[in-house]
Amino acid sequence: MKNIIITIDGPAGSGKGEIAKYLSNKWSLRHLDSGIIYRRIAHKLLKNGVSFDDKPNILRILKKEKNLSFRKNKILRKEKISVWASRIAIHKYVRDYVNKFQREFVYKNLRNTGFVIDGRDIGSVVFKEADLKLYIEVNEVNRAKRRYKQLIDAGEKSIYPKILEEIKLRDIKDKCRKNSPLIVPNGAVKIDNNGELKKALSKINRLVTKLS
Ligand code: DC
Repeated sequence: MKNIIITIDGPAGSGKGEIAKYLSNKWSLRHLDSGIIYRRIAHKLLKNGVSFDDKPNILRILKKEKNLSFRKNKILRKEKISVWASRIAIHKYVRDYVNKFQREFVYKNLRNTGFVIDGRDIGSVVFKEADLKLYIEVNEVNRAKRRYKQLIDAGEKSIYPKILEEIKLRDIKDKCRKNSPLIVPNGAVKIDNNGELKKALSKINRLVTKLS
């Protein structure tokens, strides 16, 4: 599918990445996980010993950065990186940089492919003009259970109550931040992903069919 932008927003552990991957395969769309960019920047700061609120040094690193990519990397899923990504994502100057990068990337390639992009502000801020906007809803207990399983499967030591606590804290950070808080974007279709994934996917496929 060419020339199509589908956005998927939702909180941590809502399964938006899995849904985006499915849609990417089913409809031949390129999948971009916008969280990877925040995670990659967080990783760079940690590697360079730069604090998450050290604006001059963060700007210096962003200015130098020429090779940001959406490529996945297991290291970027570590819990420490999750926490730092969430901390740097509150800064307007970081968000402006990431949003510009995403828009340039998509519009450079949109003639040859379509995109499914997941994140926290993709339909509400970055691609308000998207052809289809989805917002994935899952309660925090179900999300913490999924996150716990992901971490255990990835070989990380993990304690469920701690994960639940962190999910709650991250929700507060994502929803209450001044810049681009996590909201249901205007015109987005809400998808309940508490139950069977299959059901959610059928509903989404019906919506995508209408685009073609
Ligand atoms: O989706 P994720 O867990 O990989 O995202 C990591 C962090 O990046 C998350 O805490 C919030 C931030 N993020 C954001 O603020 N906006 C996005 N579009 C994507 C991620």
